[in-house]
Amino acid sequence: MASTSKSSREQWSNKMGFILAAIGSAVGLGSIWRFPFVAGVNGGGAFVLIYLLSILLLGLPVLLSEIVMGRSAQKNPIGAYRHHAPNTPWFLSGYIGIVATIIILAFYSTIGGWTLAYTLEAVTGAFGSITIDQAEVRFGSFINNAWSPILWQAAFIGFTILICLSGIQKGIERTNKFLMPLLGIMLIILVVRAVTLPGAMEGVRFILFPDWSAVTWTTFFEALGMAFFSLSVGAGTMITYGSYLSRQENIPSAVGNVVVFSTLVSLAAGLAIFPAVFSLGYTPDAGPALVFITLPAVFAHLPVGSLFAILFFALLSFAALTSAISLLEVPLRYLQDEHGFSRQIIWLVGGGIFLLGIPATLSFSSLADISVIGQLPIFDSMDFVASNVLLPLSGLFVILFVGWKWGVSKMLAEAEGVDGKGIPARSFWPIVIRWVTPLLIIAVFLFQIFTSL
Ligand code: PFF
Repeated sequence: MASTSKSSREQWSNKMGFILAAIGSAVGLGSIWRFPFVAGVNGGGAFVLIYLLSILLLGLPVLLSEIVMGRSAQKNPIGAYRHHAPNTPWFLSGYIGIVATIIILAFYSTIGGWTLAYTLEAVTGAFGSITIDQAEVRFGSFINNAWSPILWQAAFIGFTILICLSGIQKGIERTNKFLMPLLGIMLIILVVRAVTLPGAMEGVRFILFPDWSAVTWTTFFEALGMAFFSLSVGAGTMITYGSYLSRQENIPSAVGNVVVFSTLVSLAAGLAIFPAVFSLGYTPDAGPALVFITLPAVFAHLPVGSLFAILFFALLSFAALTSAISLLEVPLRYLQDEHGFSRQIIWLVGGGIFLLGIPATLSFSSLADISVIGQLPIFDSMDFVASNVLLPLSGLFVILFVGWKWGVSKMLAEAEGVDGKGIPARSFWPIVIRWVTPLLIIAVFLFQIFTSL
């Protein structure tokens, strides 16, 4: 059992270190290539408002609960449950999150590898004057290559391992303190470029203009599901990151920062992408087609477009990497806390996740015909199981645990730390945590299961 004594356990050097790491975890591929498109087709500003409400009623309570659970126990997800409810089976739900992080990192590293490969391509000027058809052919031959995507995937996992291996302050915190401000600057440059292009307003309207006629019931579920994945809740990452937070810190203000900044980055990503896409007369899209086919063609048509291509793909690689390290830290911290392993065990964990990720990568080429769940190919099946089943399930257990077992008032008292600053809207939280959030999670869970299969 736990061999690491509390005194030797590493902590963030300050609250800013924690906030940047948590934003780094939240801001990832999901928030950059999925949020803006989903917002655009679901009523733009109307969706953004519904998303903010979803953050308030679902994302924020789970985020707060996870961070507080981790901070007060100073333990990994399993250890945190055991600390707060010894000799009960609650700790089992911690395993759901750990399994989710392993599966997510496995398929996330497929795309992480692609972003690294495309960053290098952008640096070598490969997208010089590429047309959209050429970009499609280029992407097709890249993912169909037998080795290249797997080697890039290995490189992505390798970087993730090396950062985590250096520990909390020297590895994770230092990386985020460097990459997150850089990501912010790059994003601002890309937004300014995009919104000043001729015809950019159509793209701005796509994301921001509220079109309530596009809002259906599905819109609400989309927004609720998105609040989960893009805030990185339900996987135990925030319990783990919270466990490195000093008892002195006030958590509500840190949570406020994480929520505000990661939402702003998602919106800014939309403003960096769609005005440029519309300005060149292309149709909006999401996911791989948008990022690896449409955008290289967009950049090729902009003055000094190669520079913007480098900025964009580097930004995407950074966003993916800072999310990946938060995912890898979860099983790593579990093995350290609960089984007394040294941090070197990361080579085994990272290596295993790499092997698990290979079929995900190959499901875009040689294994494309294999479907695992329903009609879904390997990559989508892993995404489905982790994002649509395990994350909501583990998030539901966290919120039920805090609401009904540990107690909301104990959690809130712990959240405030020692600086005496209270939590805003104190009377609002018990009813939300005990009733509103669990019911919303159950609704999203059922919706996602029935619409995806
Ligand atoms: N929030 C990340 C994104 O939007 O891409 C994905 C993610 C990271 C989900 C870490 C869950 C997690 F624990």
